[in-house]
This record gives sequence, C-alpha cells and structure tokens, in this order.
Amino acid sequence: MITRKELIEKYLEFFKSKKHKVIPSASLIPENDPTVLFTTAGMHPLVPYLLGNKHPLGKRLVNIQKCIRTTDIDEVGDYFHHTFLEMLGNWSLGDYWKEEAIKMTFEFHTKILKIPLERYAVTVFSGNKDVKKDEESIKIWASLGIAKERIALLDDNWWGPAGETGPCGPDTEMFYWTPNNLPAPKKYDPDDDRWVEIGNDVLIEFVKEKSGKLIKAKQKNIDFGGGLERTLTVLNGLDDNYMSEVWKPIIQEIEHLSRKSYEKNKKAMRIIADHIKASVFIIADGIVPSNTSQGYVLRRLIRRAVRYGKGLELNNFTDKVAEPVFQIYKDYDELKSNKNKILKALNEEEQKFNKTIGKGLNIFEKLIKNKKTISGKDAFLLYQSYGFPIELTQELSKEKGIKTDIKEFEKELKKHQELSRTASAGAFKSGLSDNSTATTSLHTATHLLNEALRKVLGQEIKQRGSNIMPERLRFDFNFPRKLTEAEVKKVEDLVNDKIEQGLPVIRQEMKLKDALKSGAQAEFGMKYPDVVSVYSIGHGENLFSREICTGPHVKNTREIGKFKIIKEESISSGVRRIKAVVE
Ligand code: ALA
Repeated sequence: MITRKELIEKYLEFFKSKKHKVIPSASLIPENDPTVLFTTAGMHPLVPYLLGNKHPLGKRLVNIQKCIRTTDIDEVGDYFHHTFLEMLGNWSLGDYWKEEAIKMTFEFHTKILKIPLERYAVTVFSGNKDVKKDEESIKIWASLGIAKERIALLDDNWWGPAGETGPCGPDTEMFYWTPNNLPAPKKYDPDDDRWVEIGNDVLIEFVKEKSGKLIKAKQKNIDFGGGLERTLTVLNGLDDNYMSEVWKPIIQEIEHLSRKSYEKNKKAMRIIADHIKASVFIIADGIVPSNTSQGYVLRRLIRRAVRYGKGLELNNFTDKVAEPVFQIYKDYDELKSNKNKILKALNEEEQKFNKTIGKGLNIFEKLIKNKKTISGKDAFLLYQSYGFPIELTQELSKEKGIKTDIKEFEKELKKHQELSRTASAGAFKSGLSDNSTATTSLHTATHLLNEALRKVLGQEIKQRGSNIMPERLRFDFNFPRKLTEAEVKKVEDLVNDKIEQGLPVIRQEMKLKDALKSGAQAEFGMKYPDVVSVYSIGHGENLFSREICTGPHVKNTREIGKFKIIKEESISSGVRRIKAVVE
C-alpha cells in the first residue's frame, strides 16, 4: 500500500536528491496564455522558462501540479479519465538531457517505487516526415535492461505544445502491466489497455510557431509528467482509479446520500465525483459559474453533475459531495481558505439550475418527439430559458440517437447577442449593463485603458473581467502588485492623450484566425465564433488598440470626455481591479 502523501514525498525527495528545487503548484487559471482555458500540465506555467528565460530557482525543478483537462469531459465515466488531476513533474531547463532524464525516471520507477522490470515497458518516437526517429532513447532504454520487445516505436509519441504554440517535442512514455494475477506478455502491445501509462519524458527540442511550423528550440529541455491518480491506483493493485484514496471518500458520500450502490451506478457516480472535485478546485482559483470562458466550463461541470444526480434521486447534494474533497486535499491552502465560498457557489449554481431543469427536461422530451434532429432554435430555447448548456442538450440528444443542429444554435446565439445589444438591458459579453451614451463612452475608454496598461506595465497584461455601469467602468487584469501613483498617472495620461487625439474607432468583421493574426486582443479564455468583430482605435501609424469585441463603441475617442482612475485595488492573488470614470 502506498498513500498519496507517501507517493508525493517519495517523488519530491528523490528529485531533490538529484538537485531539483521544489516549486509550488501554479493556479489552474493560466496567467499569460489566451489560447487555453486551464493549466493542463505541469509544464504549462513554466513555458517562459522552457523558452529560455532564467528561473530564479535554477535549471532543475520538480513539483506536483494541479491540472484541469476539459477535452476529456465527455470521457469521464470510465475508470481512469478525470477532469481534475495532479501531475508529478520534473524539469530540466536547458540542463540535463535524454540520458540523465531517462535514467532518473527509471531509477524512480524501479528503485524508489520498486516496479519490477517484468511489468515495465516503454514507447519511443518512431519519427515522421519532419523529425527523425529517436535512436538515442532506444539505446538508453536498452542499456537499462529493457528488452527489445518492450520498447515500442510509435509515431504519436509527441507531446505539446500545451496551447496553440510553444515548446514541444518527441516523448518517451513508460507503461505498467496492471493485472495482478496474469503475467505480463513478453511483448508490449500499445493496443492492450492493461498496460497503463505512468510517465512521460517529453524531450523538448522544438517550438511550434503560429503558422504551425516547428523551429529548433534555443535550449533543450526535459519535461517529465506522471499522473498521480493512476500511479497510485496501479501501485496499489487496484483496477479502478475511483477506488483509490483520492476518490473513494467522494464515491462513498454519494452512495450514502443516494442510498444506492456504486457497483450498480458507476458511471453516474464517477461523473458526479469528478465534476464536483474539479468544480471545487476551479472555484478555489477564483472562478464563478457564468456563460463565458472558464466560468462556462464550471457551469457545465456543476450542471452535468446535477443532471446525473437527478438520475440517482439526489437533491441539494453538490456541497455535501464536495465535503470529502477538502479532507482528501488538506494540503491545498486555497481549498481551506475558500471553503465557504466554494460550498456556497456550488449550492447557488445547483439551485439556479434546479429551478429550470425539470421543466427543461420535459420541454426537451416534447421537442424531440418524432424528430431526428433538434433544431438550433430549440437548443437555444433550452439554453436561454432553461439554463441548459449546449453540451447538455447535445449529450441528451445523443443518448436518444438524435442530432443537434449546432450551427443553427450558434447563429441563434449570435443573433440574440446582437439583439440584446440594442435591447438596453441585461449584462452580456462585453460586460455592459446597458447601451446608453455613458456606457458606450466608458466601453471605448475600457479598450484604451486595457492597451494603456499593457504599454505602461508590460505586454503580459490581460483582461480578466470588465463591468460597465453608466456611472463608472470596472476593469480586472493580471498584475502581481499594487500600481505606484506614478504608474496610475501614466496610464491615466496615456488614455487622455488618446482621447484628445480624436482617434477614429473602426469596426471590421473578420475570421477569428485573421483577427488573432492581426494582433487583436482576445478576452482571456473566451470562446469565439469563427467570424468576429474587431474594433480598432486609430489606424495606420496611429493605431493604438485592437480588440475582438461585440461593441458598441463611440465613433471617435473625442466623444469620451476626460478619463479618471478613481480606484486601484487587489481582488485576488495576482488580479488587480481599476475603477474609472469619464467626466
Ligand atoms: N507535459 C507532459 C504531459 O502532460 C509531461 O504528459
């Protein structure tokens, strides 16, 4: 038996003994990467260092990183896919290379975790048209005593980048033979899922550019990642991750609350446990349920859990199911210190959905009667009036063997956003509360402010939220400390300067990819349609700001008036808030 705590300690201690420095787990919300919503791997927060920036702790790092993988949401329900996971990770930032990396991983697996060679196999990159076969790794593994039949060459042994661009390279993966009462076959078979992947050394030699081209990286890095949950499961001889200590108490709580057995309700209980655990961690990192970006993922997770809960006759249960999560992860301070907030957010979202889900499900049944496809209009009705995330409608439809017209749904969604822009009520994407002249002016001022912050404080500044009332604007952005008075003044002056210059505000429609290519700012993590509106302030030499946005805006910055920052404060770790007015 090995516990989570022991596994973590053994891993960190081992790599400490190999001169690695321990770094804390970064937030689940990536700081500088607009191309992904969540931190999906330990290497993600380290990208700047993998690209050559100096890390203050040196060239060898190790940690346990919390991760969210949303691509797997629909897979959750089997015994090993999770939305939230912890990753064992160690890195060489331009320091050791393949031989040392593979030897260390091997030593950790076979000497520290005592995995017998009979149950061990590896895979190596077989090469493709761009990058050649990794002969070196094959030799290293062979020198460690891995039989030829247990070294498989595969062309999909490639990892990264974590977002659209960045560090990546071939990898070499390690597998564990799981059946307890069946000797491992001599030859490793990549299609036999009784071999479970327990580690991956990514040999980072390339950087993928926006165009898709691979260029040689300035420095060679090692990025090892190992899933904690599955390692724990296999080392303890279990055949279901949900029976390990990081899941079992949650499953037991669901059994207790529903008075039903896990044995007969595995899929639903796994989904509920997974989604609630992930939600707890996402809320702890400052996200609230909403209709955009990370908030929308959170909403989907909670609502999907509630929907599966209905099947088990569970009511008002999400906060109760969350309780054991705090017990399992006592070592995460952000869970402890935000516990009330987390439970409240879960409960509120559940109540909100409860108000409409029953009716929504009835309507759904009526809408699909004798139909092969649920129309985009109907899907939109479920979304708008009954709070059904579109993915929920898709999932329900799929269960009934019918299709969802997603294209038409997106059209409806867009149409609605256009309508609400002129309807002068309700908050929508750009964070406006109405369409008055005052809010329109403040909205354009927000774009100027966004760019001015980047000019004064640095290019890494990203919008984290915006809310505009007729009397003031509110703008949240990532920055690690309080702004100095001089900085506030500089930002204010720059905005006023651009107002006085009387710059035109120009709207263009373009393909999302062209918009991003043209350097338009996108809101952090937001999902955009294929075609977007881009608002530019100024043009040619005087181009000052470019953002993807739904509008509305003034025609010329002169219409704005005098801009004044009235408050600058912290709202959470690493996130600042500015309130400003125009006079
Ligand atoms: N970044 C690599 C992974 O996630 C190690 O598998």
